[in-house]
Amino acid sequence: MKPYEKLLQENKNWAAETQAKDPDFFKNLVNLQSPEYLWIGCSDSRVPANQITGTQPGEIFVHRNIANMVVNTDLNLLSVLQYAVEVLHVKHIIVCGHYGCGGVQAAMTQKSLGIINKWLRNIKDVYRFHREEIDAIKDETKRTDRLVELNVEEQVLNLAKTSIIQKAWKENNAPDLHGWVYGLHNGLIKPLLEMPAGTHIDKLYEFDNL
Ligand code: CO
Repeated sequence: MKPYEKLLQENKNWAAETQAKDPDFFKNLVNLQSPEYLWIGCSDSRVPANQITGTQPGEIFVHRNIANMVVNTDLNLLSVLQYAVEVLHVKHIIVCGHYGCGGVQAAMTQKSLGIINKWLRNIKDVYRFHREEIDAIKDETKRTDRLVELNVEEQVLNLAKTSIIQKAWKENNAPDLHGWVYGLHNGLIKPLLEMPAGTHIDKLYEFDNL
């Protein structure tokens, strides 16, 4: 068996087991998708949204990219966000970073990595905003971990800056925004911040004609 064929075999097993446990499982999912959560996480293979939160298919709408970024020119992220908020009406949006993130690590170096430079530039900006605090940390791992946390906070703020979120807050008083960070070393998620619907941000970013 070729290595990738194992995936297909495991899929058959999973489908059979799931069906055996709950004969209506797939039928119910086909009829309706109504997840309460949008997850914006890192593409890192060690941070699978469903598995680490004990959730099932149908429970979380997921978007993943390198270093869980919310970039306001990213058509992919914005499409996912708009659909999640305006069609699925998710109640919570979670930005989940993780300690030891390779994307964040790379952004702290001066190495050119090709096209990914353009993506990491956004993290370099977060570093620059908090340069004093980060550079004061002696230990290299701790320094990266702090930028991981600050990056999550910045991405939550980036969500709040979008007209999609501001419009939803005004019309539906939802969704709430959450910033979390996952520990690869212990499998635990640490909540960093919560931004309930309607939270005011810097006036500069608030639209008054939505
Ligand atoms: Co990562």
